[in-house]
Amino acid sequence: MTWLITGGAGYIGSHVVKAMTDGGESVVVLDDLSTGSKDRIPGTVPLEIGTVLDRELVDRVLREHAVTGIVHLAGKKQVGESVEKPLHYYYENVEGLRSVLEAAADAGVRRFLFSSSASVYGMPDVDLVTERTPCLPMSPYGETKLAGEWLVRAVGAAHGMATASLRYFNVAGAASPELGDDGIFNLVPMVFERLTAGEAPRVFGDDYPTPDGTCIRDYIHVEDIAAAHVAAARRLAEDASASLVLNIGRGEGVSVAEMVTTIQDVTGRREPAPAVVERRPGDPARVVASADLIRAELGWEARHDIRTMVASAWEGWCLRHPEAHV
Ligand code: WQD
Repeated sequence: MTWLITGGAGYIGSHVVKAMTDGGESVVVLDDLSTGSKDRIPGTVPLEIGTVLDRELVDRVLREHAVTGIVHLAGKKQVGESVEKPLHYYYENVEGLRSVLEAAADAGVRRFLFSSSASVYGMPDVDLVTERTPCLPMSPYGETKLAGEWLVRAVGAAHGMATASLRYFNVAGAASPELGDDGIFNLVPMVFERLTAGEAPRVFGDDYPTPDGTCIRDYIHVEDIAAAHVAAARRLAEDASASLVLNIGRGEGVSVAEMVTTIQDVTGRREPAPAVVERRPGDPARVVASADLIRAELGWEARHDIRTMVASAWEGWCLRHPEAHV
């Protein structure tokens, strides 16, 4: 098989490219480089530069590379920005997906893997979120992921495609420093940024109904996420009628306070001490995956712990921020 990986030059996408090629799969990348970078892609992997919204381009890439399966990761992923720019998010994430699916159907591509998110659940009121937990997204971003899953399932059924939507929980870490996250929109890089600037890391609220009062999440190493894609791609290759929706998480809750302590340990930076500030609007107290279904369906299991995630993320951060070494 030859897999097209859209968004393959991004943080998660480049890890998927690495895991797929390490696993012996043939891949080609399509990325508009709006947030991705070509340095993330090995020279041996063909890179087509452009947007998934360009049907002619997608048609040509599918044809010229004789693509037989697609892993669609291209999209916008900032929750806050999606509240301000819903039209942009629906266009990029839903129309972008529709464009790729239509091209796939026209070209006879029969395998489709979609990058979804735990944000489809919104504020789940359960200890462990299973794939049967109701989906009530709280942001346009989450809505575009849920609408995307519906579209993938419907097109799969109508056009005889094997499909899988993978719901990522909180992704962190890096396979190597060069592949690290270069944004600052999540807890780990936000704490790194504050520490590098000599400012106190912020804890958004410590009055949640959790044991230490801070929010609980299910952090997962990006290499584990990538390995789940390889397992899912192989499953789709073998099972032409697959229609899967799977959580990718570790099934273990970690609080913000615990995460900040791990960051202090790993970086050796205990000063300035973290400061508790106002709650961030819209944050659920607890979101932790049940990983039972993905284990049963794909035999996949997370291998990395929180410490490895934070240590590998810090190495990548230091590479891009030499001023962090003091
Ligand atoms: C984690 C926890 C914050 C920064 C979002 C999306 C989700 C997925 C991942 C895209 C929260 C707290 C954070 C800080 C803090 N995105 N925090 N101080 O909100 O769980 O998930 O990103 O696919 O869909 O919703 O992730 O990393 O922003 O926050 O206390 O400086 O850390 O309040 O409890 P979140 P996050």
